[in-house]
Amino acid sequence: MRTIPLGHTGVEVSALCLGAMYFGTRTGEATSLALLDQYVAAGGTFIDTANIYAHWAEGGQGGESETLLGRWMKQRGNRADLFIASKVGFEYTGVDRGLSAGRIEAECDKSLRRLGVETIDLYYAHVDDRATPLDETLAAFDRLVQAGKVRYVGASNYTAWRLEEARAVSAAGGYPVFCGVQQRHTYLRPKPGADFDPQLAANDDLLDFCRVRSAEITLLAYSPLLGGAYTRADRPVPAEYAGPDTDARLAALRAVAAAHGATPNQVVLAWMLHSDPVVIPVFAASTPQQMAENLGALDVALSPGDMAQLNGASG
Ligand SMILES: NC(=O)c1ccc[n+]([C@@H]2O[C@H](COP(=O)([O-])OP(=O)(O)OC[C@H]3O[C@@H](n4cnc5c(N)ncnc54)[C@H](OP(=O)(O)O)[C@@H]3O)[C@@H](O)[C@H]2O)c1
Repeated sequence: MRTIPLGHTGVEVSALCLGAMYFGTRTGEATSLALLDQYVAAGGTFIDTANIYAHWAEGGQGGESETLLGRWMKQRGNRADLFIASKVGFEYTGVDRGLSAGRIEAECDKSLRRLGVETIDLYYAHVDDRATPLDETLAAFDRLVQAGKVRYVGASNYTAWRLEEARAVSAAGGYPVFCGVQQRHTYLRPKPGADFDPQLAANDDLLDFCRVRSAEITLLAYSPLLGGAYTRADRPVPAEYAGPDTDARLAALRAVAAAHGATPNQVVLAWMLHSDPVVIPVFAASTPQQMAENLGALDVALSPGDMAQLNGASG
């Protein structure tokens, strides 16, 4: 699979990152293992999970996704070939929200145990915690890196100004610098004032920040396919995306997809990979057909004209 440099790390990661959020809960064991195998067979190595996945799903407590990934890696003996991302900071069963040093250290040990690995390749602060000094959070991440428990750190659901603040704190303290920011992001733009609390959607500020600092921090987009809303009658476009340019953007998406013999989902993912800054989609799939379609985005080469059509579509 094509690879993309991850921020300042010098490491190249798969252009499409597989989200494992529902593996082990909503998506059953056998299907999850088959989807992971399918992703790896296509050359993918970048897998995204979190300590809390998926405590809100029926029968879930949190930790199921990491535990399933751990079983799969053990069975396949493929840990060394993979780049595993996990996260800390949101609340789940028996654990409060926050990024205190103690919480980070305890949750990292739990994630390592569930995953059955010695090191997490990319460890994200899952949500900003303004009640804990950044110095405390980043120093805790630094200790994890020094101990070999974590290779690189990232942030998720952070504003651009907080990332800049974190960067200054890391520089002053000699702590690791965030190499990626994972935000809600898709081709459709949230309508003005849309609120996804506690999630944050990438806004113009964040895109500008990541463009200017592209050698340092990479934007990763979660929920890029809006859960299937681009193509499925049973999945309406969420109300937060019903903005003034929604119809024009959907029309442009369909036109570009038709011209390429591709699907709208594929064009959304390809648009991210062709954007400035380059955006790594963190996508999910719950069937082999969805996985095949989504991986097919890598074959969609968008021209500058396509990108102008997609980016210029407005109401
Ligand atoms: N950092 C954060 O705060 C945060 C938040 C949310 C997610 N994430 C990460 O991002 C990953 C992806 O999030 P997401 O699940 O919201 O992303 P998504 O890619 O927008 O949605 C995935 C869902 O869309 C449907 N789908 C996927 N491909 C399809 C296709 N080709 N045709 C029709 N429907 C399709 C499936 O729904 P059905 O299963 O219902 O068929 C699938 O489960 C997660 O696994 C997680 O790792 C991070």
